[in-house]
Amino acid sequence: MQTGIRAKLLEAFSKADGEFLSGQKISDYIGCSRTAVWKHMEELRKEGYELEAVRRLGYRITKKPDKISSNEIQLGLKTTMMGRHIHFEEIVSSTQKIARNLANEGVEEGTIVVADQQTNGKGRMARVWYSPKGTGIWMSMIIRPNLPVNQTPQLTLLTAVAIVQAIEELTPLKPEIKWPNDIMLNGKKLVGILTELQAEADQVHSVIIGTGINVNQKIDDFPEELQSIATSIFIETGTVWERAQFIQMILLKFEGLYSLFLTQGFKPIKLLWESYAISLNKKIIARTLSGTIVGKAIGIDDDGVLLIETNNRVIERIYSADIDF
Ligand code: BTN
Repeated sequence: MQTGIRAKLLEAFSKADGEFLSGQKISDYIGCSRTAVWKHMEELRKEGYELEAVRRLGYRITKKPDKISSNEIQLGLKTTMMGRHIHFEEIVSSTQKIARNLANEGVEEGTIVVADQQTNGKGRMARVWYSPKGTGIWMSMIIRPNLPVNQTPQLTLLTAVAIVQAIEELTPLKPEIKWPNDIMLNGKKLVGILTELQAEADQVHSVIIGTGINVNQKIDDFPEELQSIATSIFIETGTVWERAQFIQMILLKFEGLYSLFLTQGFKPIKLLWESYAISLNKKIIARTLSGTIVGKAIGIDDDGVLLIETNNRVIERIYSADIDF
């Protein structure tokens, strides 16, 4: 199907918001005959859409395939800034790399880079992020806050809250956050967030927030070494989820929290973050690049830095670490 017609057809269904659309309405909307409409519907069926056809009422989409593209993300997106510009690729080395180049070219704040597969996904602490085709959300968001560099870790915590809220909104799951940015379910990692900066002196030019979300992987889809430590929304619910719908919800939650953050500062975000945190008031082991610290996680400060009280009652400030319980 020509991509223009397909986009128009999906746009018509998206506007109908689950209601039936008559063949006549569709043919008027996309500007073709009713026979052509019928052919396009058959094409959609072949692509994995489930359509209900009722005499005198017309058609409606009852299930969409889990396919991501700029169109799928854009149709039904309720944000004003986040995701208004979408750079989608089937396969990339890392969406972070593309986002960085786009940010240097001066793209608008809110631009997102999404790929169906990454061949060299980047994780925190120079690790590789496993990003197989057609299963997860591999997305980098570009924002340009007017912030000093030391406050940018707050945006990682804000993103974690946005993703937890999106998952809670769309699924029955109750994910938790492990400082600073792992989202966990039943002790296994579901989401990773990687925040990278482009800054000069103390002035932030852009912040690239990369999110890796395991959506539809089955347990066997993970390499053996990850099977005991990683999970996906499919594994936890037994249902295949539409990634595009998750992206839309994450962007909407992120936009709301980001605007709250820009107007009221980190305090309200900190409260929300703490309500989802699993590591607080527990004895933890923080493995940093310069050594291991053991103690009780007593909270995060107003910059989002983790505070650990050691056995000899010293408060250590942790900027980056892997946490174990
Ligand atoms: C972590 O180690 O927990 C962070 C993982 C971040 C992975 C995402 S996937 C989209 C974006 N592109 C990358 O190469 N990495 C981030």
